[in-house]
Amino acid sequence: MCGIIGYTGKRQAAPILLDGLKMLEYRGYDSSGIAVSENGGISMTKAKGRLDNLVKLTDGGKSARGTMGIGHTRWATHGEPSDVNSHPHIGEKGNFALVHNGIIENYLDIRAFLCAKGFTFRSQTDTEAVVQLLEYYYKGDVKEAIAKTLNKLRGSYALGILTRFDPDTFYAVRKDSPLVIGLGDGENFIASDMPAVLKYTHDFILPEDGDIAVISPTKVELFNRNGETVEHKPFKVDWDVESAEKGGFPHFMLKEIHEQPKALEQTLLPRFDGYSVKSDGIEFSKEYLGALKKIFIVACGSSYHAAMVGKYFIERNCRISTEVDLASEFRYRSPVLDENTLTVVISQSGETADTIAAMRDAKAHCSRVLAIVNVVGSTIAREADDVLYTRAGPEIAVATTKGYTTQVATLMLLGLFIADATKSMSKALYEKYVDELKALPAAVQRVLDENVEALQKLAYDYFAFDKTFFIGRGMDYALALEGALKLKEISYIHAESYAAGELKHGTISLIEKGSPVIACATGEELFEKTLSNIKEVRSRGASVIALVKEGREKTMGAEAQHVVSLPALSDEMMPCVAAAALQLFAYYVAAAKSCDIDKPRNLAKAVTVE
Ligand code: M6R
Repeated sequence: MCGIIGYTGKRQAAPILLDGLKMLEYRGYDSSGIAVSENGGISMTKAKGRLDNLVKLTDGGKSARGTMGIGHTRWATHGEPSDVNSHPHIGEKGNFALVHNGIIENYLDIRAFLCAKGFTFRSQTDTEAVVQLLEYYYKGDVKEAIAKTLNKLRGSYALGILTRFDPDTFYAVRKDSPLVIGLGDGENFIASDMPAVLKYTHDFILPEDGDIAVISPTKVELFNRNGETVEHKPFKVDWDVESAEKGGFPHFMLKEIHEQPKALEQTLLPRFDGYSVKSDGIEFSKEYLGALKKIFIVACGSSYHAAMVGKYFIERNCRISTEVDLASEFRYRSPVLDENTLTVVISQSGETADTIAAMRDAKAHCSRVLAIVNVVGSTIAREADDVLYTRAGPEIAVATTKGYTTQVATLMLLGLFIADATKSMSKALYEKYVDELKALPAAVQRVLDENVEALQKLAYDYFAFDKTFFIGRGMDYALALEGALKLKEISYIHAESYAAGELKHGTISLIEKGSPVIACATGEELFEKTLSNIKEVRSRGASVIALVKEGREKTMGAEAQHVVSLPALSDEMMPCVAAAALQLFAYYVAAAKSCDIDKPRNLAKAVTVE
């Protein structure tokens, strides 16, 4: 969704703002703009469409000379994508300009109130109401005007605010929308997320909801709405600059697919001490686990697919009833939550609005909340009772890859941790899983080393189809859902994912001669059953690509046109191993169709609206 950047220092601000916006492109946007403090005023440039339009309009930033500014990529919510609706928005007196990420729910009331006071509005956005309210409340004290404005707002926001009164100081606030403050040497930044400014700093402060940050080149001060100083300890991130750059790959997605072995190593290896799983400080007392009646795993999109794998693993091995929910559905179905339930929320970004809402609801109903999150210091990480970081490093492509596989691996760790504490698993099985998790990064590496060419070729054979089917049973069904989502979101090919056994209850009527079916048959336990389902679609003319464990090629080869053979680990490990192959397939199909792979249409990396 929208991206925010802000800079104050000694350098020309505009090129830094444009550079930061480039790094935020992946969040999804349809227009962009910058505002720079210049000659006692604020100069603004905005452009609909790609960031390149803004770059051209500003001559790569050269046209604006000031050393402080704010920038924005807008993902339209209120009002069409257009120059006038793009951010920054400037107040009618020209005193304030601001950029906003989030939604102001009561903006119509604010507009009506201000119109009655004689203000006129230029855009259709909710954001303009905020900047005009600032103008209305400004009586000589900027902080006071901001505090009064915030008191009137309902909704979510991260704001970067320039004023005409401070030549080198700008302001930032947030509530339920992401914003970090980057600390440089004689320069400071704000950004919607850390990769946007990693090139300049690794030191950050995370403002809390409601804080007002006053940011000059040499100082960052934080105040609450009563004007009292608040302190937040800065922290360092160890992500390297390269991790936020393409590093020679044509797309971030391909780079991130290939980063999975390393990411999985970071997720898994430091968490083992011999055969015991380190809990990152999470403690489940004997009493808590003894009384635990149910686990809910709640997430959206691919994180939800990871949750499905986690459910199978935990339920089977820990013998605790585990339900999986889409975050957007969870709280509206009134789940039975209390202190004897554990709610596990999963989110790569830690900023997904539906998941945040579900987490808050679970907490409000006394359920302990454990978050599995990638982005350090994100809203979910901060608000959950416990956090297990996936340690995947920055993920830039909208389609998640290493984000997903590290979530699955982290869920396995959680399962093992609970199983160890409750002694629900035999020692032999437990140790087998630990050994296999340690071997998982190498197994994924093998998939990447051995399958690129074949999958690329398959992608060329299949890219012209307009619909595909993904089928599987058990964990392979969860994998099918993820494989289908990957394909549809980046290649725009319709992909229907189905539990293989369900096909005959309706969907099989769609199968005709040549229908592409991607069959996930990586699990041994249900292999024969899936094979029967594959025969069913084959006999109706489907063209089948099947994913199997090594050793099953021959049996499957008799049915499927193409067999992708994968390193043979336990069934439970296969969704991670096989995901890498499905990601490559989706990637090469989208590449063959010349799609905008890292920034698919209509999508955003972090979905910060419900
Ligand atoms: O950041 P989150 O894990 O909470 O994001 C959830 C979904 O929006 C995300 O997984 C989405 O489905 C991806 N585009 C899938 O590739």
